[in-house]
Amino acid sequence: MSNEPRLLVVDDDALIREELEGLFASQPYEVESAESVSEALEHLNGNEFSLALVDVRIGGKNGIELTKRIRDRWPEVDVIMITGHGSIENAVDAMKQGAVDYITKPFQAEEILMATQKALERRQMREEIEYLREQLRERYSFANMVSRNEDMLEVFSTLEMLARNDVTVLITGESGTGKELASRAIHFQGKRKVGRFVAINCAALPENLLESELFGYERGAFTGAVSDRVGKIEHADGGTLFLDEVETISAPMQAKLLRVLEERAIERLGGNQKIDVDMRVVAATNENLEELVKDGRMREDFYYRINVVPVHLPPLRERVEDIPLLVSEFLRGNPLAREKGLNRLSDKALNQLSTYEWPGNIRELSNVMERAILRARGDTIREVDVPTGKMGERNAGPKLNFELPLREYLKGAERDYLSRLLTKHQGGITPCAKQAAVDQATLHRKIKAHGLRANDFRQNGRGGGS
Ligand SMILES: Nc1ncnc2c1ncn2[C@@H]1O[C@H](COP(=O)(O)OP(=O)(O)OP(=O)(O)O)[C@@H](O)[C@H]1O
Ligand SMILES: [Mg+2]
Repeated sequence: MSNEPRLLVVDDDALIREELEGLFASQPYEVESAESVSEALEHLNGNEFSLALVDVRIGGKNGIELTKRIRDRWPEVDVIMITGHGSIENAVDAMKQGAVDYITKPFQAEEILMATQKALERRQMREEIEYLREQLRERYSFANMVSRNEDMLEVFSTLEMLARNDVTVLITGESGTGKELASRAIHFQGKRKVGRFVAINCAALPENLLESELFGYERGAFTGAVSDRVGKIEHADGGTLFLDEVETISAPMQAKLLRVLEERAIERLGGNQKIDVDMRVVAATNENLEELVKDGRMREDFYYRINVVPVHLPPLRERVEDIPLLVSEFLRGNPLAREKGLNRLSDKALNQLSTYEWPGNIRELSNVMERAILRARGDTIREVDVPTGKMGERNAGPKLNFELPLREYLKGAERDYLSRLLTKHQGGITPCAKQAAVDQATLHRKIKAHGLRANDFRQNGRGGGS
């Protein structure tokens, strides 16, 4: 913190205000003072304070009330209460309402300075811890994606590697698993970020429009082409062309795109001149393209051109350990949740979230959380609204790959079991061991063997610590 801490003195007694202002003026602090509750609120609205010194009685108003309000509304502002004449009740009340300290009147200058310094030091320590926690959390994120699932961490490093070259990428994954986010990461983390990221949803346009969107046209190419138009492919020159829902492209269009991919040049509709384009291509699909090729619905040569490096995003139900992490991301990133001070999930809500199938994956989770945030009162989300019909299927177990050798299949099932167990009990070893009916040492060993960490499942304890 390079800025000087800003303090707010709230007292209706002008003498005390002056005394404190004078005292703090000799310190590396900035001071403002208010003589009433309303004036104090005005100051707090206008500026960021580190600490407020609040008198118990402010012109007939209750200073403890103000303290409570400050702690609710501006939790980042610490409060020291100045209590009257050694009143223990007041002091206890003040601490209950979230004051970090209290000083009794009449006070010595030394006392005030010490208490202030102590509060600011503690505050700085808190900030440092917060910072370290942030850094730890960084390990679970890439660009705007977060995950602690091992397959996803592998995906992150693949994306990081892909950002450094120009190879064509095919991103697969169910709806809402983050395909677009991943393709943006490739673009924006790499040297092509100076160029454009041009996304085209191949399913959204009918054949003829898609062609003119992609290739552009010259004036007079068709009725209505009254002027030249640069196509999306040309726009992507120097950048990235993102072909979303690539499975919907018709066979004739696939043939045209195939030529572009091979020649790295296009001709506008109605034009007769080749225009070079230097672009990276990322395609995405939630279909199994191999099947489409087998069924004759996708050209094999086109498939091989786009499937140079495949990146698969696993569905959310195969990475339930990400649910708490994603939830805290959503809470942090949601202005209403921040305003409401929402920062917890009840056991019930967590259980609902971690047993649901999530056919719509992360997008669906995000929508469910948004609705829950709207409805929630207090600092806890008690309940979420997810369809319950799928629970039965869910209990049938995860969709593990049946083609695997037995040993690998069982290993996958065990890992899935452990992460769901840890999610359910928020990383508590004792309840986990109890439910799993194994001793704690065995549980510890298994958790470790699967590369999991109980700490990661504790709320607000991401990446260790608390
Ligand atoms: N790992 C992640 N961390 C945080 N947010 C994520 C992550 N993955 C996806 N999201 C969020 O989930 C939503 C869906 O992601 P995205 O649009 O990239 O999915 P998609 O696979 O392209 O879906 P669709 O197939 O429906 O087009 C977005 O709001 C995105 O920000
Ligand atoms: Mg998408």
